[in-house]
Amino acid sequence: MNSSPAVEPNHDAFPERVVAWDLFRQPLSWPEIVGSKDKLELEIGSGKGLFLQNAASVSPDRFFVGIELSAKFANRAAQRLHRHGITNARMLRGDGKDFLHEVVPDEVLDRLHVYFPDPWWRNKHKKRRVLNRVALHDIQRVLKPGGSFHFWTDVLDYYEHICGEVMDHTQLAGPRYVPERVASHSMDFTTHFERRARNEGQPVYRAIFEKI
Ligand SMILES: C[S@@+](CC[C@H](N)C(=O)[O-])C[C@H]1O[C@@H](n2cnc3c(N)ncnc32)[C@H](O)[C@@H]1O
Repeated sequence: MNSSPAVEPNHDAFPERVVAWDLFRQPLSWPEIVGSKDKLELEIGSGKGLFLQNAASVSPDRFFVGIELSAKFANRAAQRLHRHGITNARMLRGDGKDFLHEVVPDEVLDRLHVYFPDPWWRNKHKKRRVLNRVALHDIQRVLKPGGSFHFWTDVLDYYEHICGEVMDHTQLAGPRYVPERVASHSMDFTTHFERRARNEGQPVYRAIFEKI
């Protein structure tokens, strides 16, 4: 007989044991992820989760989902949310492109965020790009009318390439200019990669596209 107690691990005693839900091990449906919440935002490639932490803290009426391919980073992001007592964000580990294509229904998102995706310029690596044409079509499909797609990068060529792809292959309107905000403290940046770029004095290119 199995005598182990049927209790959840005590994450407050062992915060390092908090992990992101791993979709590779156990897929979830969209309703299982978001329940009946209706003000929804998705971030693909969340890294260590600074965007989710900051955005969820200032918008408690919204629910945020982050998906990250790397288990190490997904777990760090989940631990960050737990450490800051954030309950309106959920961190998943999985492939953001597949998730978008296979799991996210039509017209459910108010905002979709992709910050500093790896450009993967070399031909043999292009299939790793998060923002390929299928994903751009899916982004248009999953946004509600009036919803927006937020894309930032510090690679100018890649910024121009993605803006061109969105303009040529979707009906999303934009890009809309996003002014740079002055940081009020050392972690007051949209993401860790934005923080790093700005601390190194590098320009950051920001685009918002809207579904009319
Ligand atoms: C350059 S980092 C940027 C991280 C974060 N957005 C930031 O700005 O600090 C790109 C992130 O995207 C993740 N990534 C790459 N391909 C992905 C995919 N198909 N699905 C989800 N995440 C992915 C990588 O593991 C990495 O953490």
